[in-house]
Amino acid sequence: MLFSKRRKYAITRYYALFERKKGQKMNSMVIYDSTFGNTEQIARVIADRLGEHGTVKLMRSDEAASLDLKEMDLLVIGCPIHRQRMTPAVGALLANIPRRSLKGRAAAAFDTRYRLNWFLSNFTAAQEIASKLKRTGASLIVPPEGFIVTGREGPLEEGELERAAQWAEKIIEQFEAARSLHKEKAGIR
Ligand SMILES: Cc1cc2nc3c(=O)[nH]c(=O)nc-3n(C[C@H](O)[C@H](O)[C@H](O)COP(=O)(O)O)c2cc1C
Repeated sequence: MLFSKRRKYAITRYYALFERKKGQKMNSMVIYDSTFGNTEQIARVIADRLGEHGTVKLMRSDEAASLDLKEMDLLVIGCPIHRQRMTPAVGALLANIPRRSLKGRAAAAFDTRYRLNWFLSNFTAAQEIASKLKRTGASLIVPPEGFIVTGREGPLEEGELERAAQWAEKIIEQFEAARSLHKEKAGIR
């Protein structure tokens, strides 16, 4: 079997994306908020990796409000956790995206945070971003992810930038798998 049942399910959820974008490069946008620069570092690593597979725009959430997000194939949003929530700037950005307007687009959410116990790990900014993204119609292609800081102002724990690069690779892999599946179904070589 080419894909496992679970993976095939994940793939078919967002495969509508390729109805419009056959053969085109991945067009991504990474939007972040950051007070002390740690989330920005993670966002840059993710954008660098995505940039190896197509075009990528990297910007702060307060600069992204006027953009036409429908232009992109993949939207990645991240911010630090502030009091178990996403930051107000990211909240405002997501609130301004009309419901269902990003149908057929792929998306992923991340945050930076302290190392959390099991209970608190159910209340993260990444999960909140992910649930707001679902309301926009975008399909989450990887689970929400958190990257760990050692203190309020950082720095990031050792290895977190590498883990961010691996997470970006996973996003690319899922995106490419969906594209291959589409081509296979459509009989495109
Ligand atoms: C006002 C405030 C509230 C915070 N609340 C939380 C929290 O609830 N949970 C948590 O894990 N980290 C919390 N933090 C720590 C942030 O996660 C940390 O400052 C952030 O990851 C650093 O990212 P940045 O450099 O991009 O701002 C809080 C930080 C601030 C400044």
